[in-house]
Amino acid sequence: MGWSQERLEHVAQTRLGGAKLIVVANREPYIHRFKDGEVEWIRPAGGLTAALDPVMRACGGTWVAHGSGDADRQTADASGRLRVPPDDPTYTLRRVWLSKDDEEGYYYGFANSALWPLCHQVYARPVFDPAHWDAYKRVNELFAQAVLDEADGGPALVFVQDYHFALLPRLLKQARPDLVVAQFWHIPWPNPETFRVCPWGREILDGMLGNDLMSFHTQYHCNNFLETVDRTLECRIDRERFAVERSGQATSVRPHPISVDPRLAAEYLGDDWERRAEKFRKRYRLGDRPLLVGVDRVDYTKGIPERLLAVDRLLQQHPEWKGKFHFLQVGAPSRTHLPAYRDLNDEVQNLADRINWAHGDGSWRPVMFLNEHHGPEDIFLLYRMAAGCVVSSLHDGMNLVAKEFVTARPDEQGVLVLSQFTGAARELPDAVLVNPFDVQATADGLLAALTMPADEQRRRMRKMRQQVDDHNIFRWAGMLLSEVGRMVEPADLPEPSGVTPPSEERQRDLLASRHSLDTIALTWGAG
Ligand code: G6P
Repeated sequence: MGWSQERLEHVAQTRLGGAKLIVVANREPYIHRFKDGEVEWIRPAGGLTAALDPVMRACGGTWVAHGSGDADRQTADASGRLRVPPDDPTYTLRRVWLSKDDEEGYYYGFANSALWPLCHQVYARPVFDPAHWDAYKRVNELFAQAVLDEADGGPALVFVQDYHFALLPRLLKQARPDLVVAQFWHIPWPNPETFRVCPWGREILDGMLGNDLMSFHTQYHCNNFLETVDRTLECRIDRERFAVERSGQATSVRPHPISVDPRLAAEYLGDDWERRAEKFRKRYRLGDRPLLVGVDRVDYTKGIPERLLAVDRLLQQHPEWKGKFHFLQVGAPSRTHLPAYRDLNDEVQNLADRINWAHGDGSWRPVMFLNEHHGPEDIFLLYRMAAGCVVSSLHDGMNLVAKEFVTARPDEQGVLVLSQFTGAARELPDAVLVNPFDVQATADGLLAALTMPADEQRRRMRKMRQQVDDHNIFRWAGMLLSEVGRMVEPADLPEPSGVTPPSEERQRDLLASRHSLDTIALTWGAG
């Protein structure tokens, strides 16, 4: 039986046994900001918030996040709380306020100038600044306090997201050993040789081993993490069960590849997408030419210059394609306070101009760079219109653009050109897989997208859609909840309606083996 929102709701109700669900993520799912004197709300760019919002809608609970919008205070109560989604409230958002100094040191500094490049390994040098580290520690403590407020002394499952909060799990466990704490690391975890340059590596690992469950997208990242712990800390590693024991605390380390809610595509496309597509083509003077699209935050891990170089190469080698297609890059500005990101915006703009100058003419521009934030209605429209979607990350934990694209194609047409260095490539082998460092291979991939026969597109797209349908975001959350829900109330595993539970003896066997937890969730998770 497939995973749906309803099935996840059921798992949340039964597995949490009354415990509160508290999600912690730096980025909030809804940002309020002033525009032309009015308050508006937007969904931020980035896969994490898009993936977790449907989970919170299904499970309820509280999302604790940095209140980063300039109208965020005006739209929350005195404790920073409000109900979201703003147009159909189902869960609570608790905003945490940060000073400029803390935001600078913790978010721009340690999180995005040290851990981000350290974990992605795309030849950007990490910056290790003691002032950033101090701010990171301070902000992790601030969030720990907010989570403890929200838990209010009662039972809770705290689900921590990402590299902004490596220290939070240990802080929570020290304050409340009874809390169940799990963390999902949305970016890659490097090998021990890479990680060892971090001056505060031991503290980071110790913080993460405050978790009951530490999860990554892939087994490879789990292996890297376990190796790193083994080489850095005194602890007991149980390789059979994939767990670490340190100071009386056991942490299971597990892969759980994240995904998307496939139903959202229809919601964002609506009934009028064809009319909107026509308007869009007119506005950007696209004629009826095929479109290759890229949708990213402008980030140096995403390989945006690399894909533009591939467009350039394609046009050099195949001048017959001049005037016959467009490459449209949506690049949401991101972390622009950091020079590396600002410079990248300029680099992409300059490259687009150069390619347009070299190959375009007065009436046709091969590259369009839309360097602004777009909501999901626009993004899904582009996915639906595209002949191909290009994801050329140099390294990416998962990449949800790849998965979103296939959910937007009920017509089973469109080609996904996908970097082999994304987590998504492991699940979507029917994409055209490319090495983005290899300009020629990427150019060949783009050409394949423009020329692939409809039958082959259908064959590949059908398989990719099936994969994402089966392994959707509700399955991701359901598996995680099933795994940690057991830790909340081990004696209270409920008997879902309509499904025969395993015998008591079988349950004991399954529970004795942590490797079997997926089996429990799948065969017996919910009706
Ligand atoms: C990546 C990170 C997320 C982050 C997102 C957007 O996907 O793993 O934690 O939210 O990028 O980046 P931002 O810095 O804008 O939150």
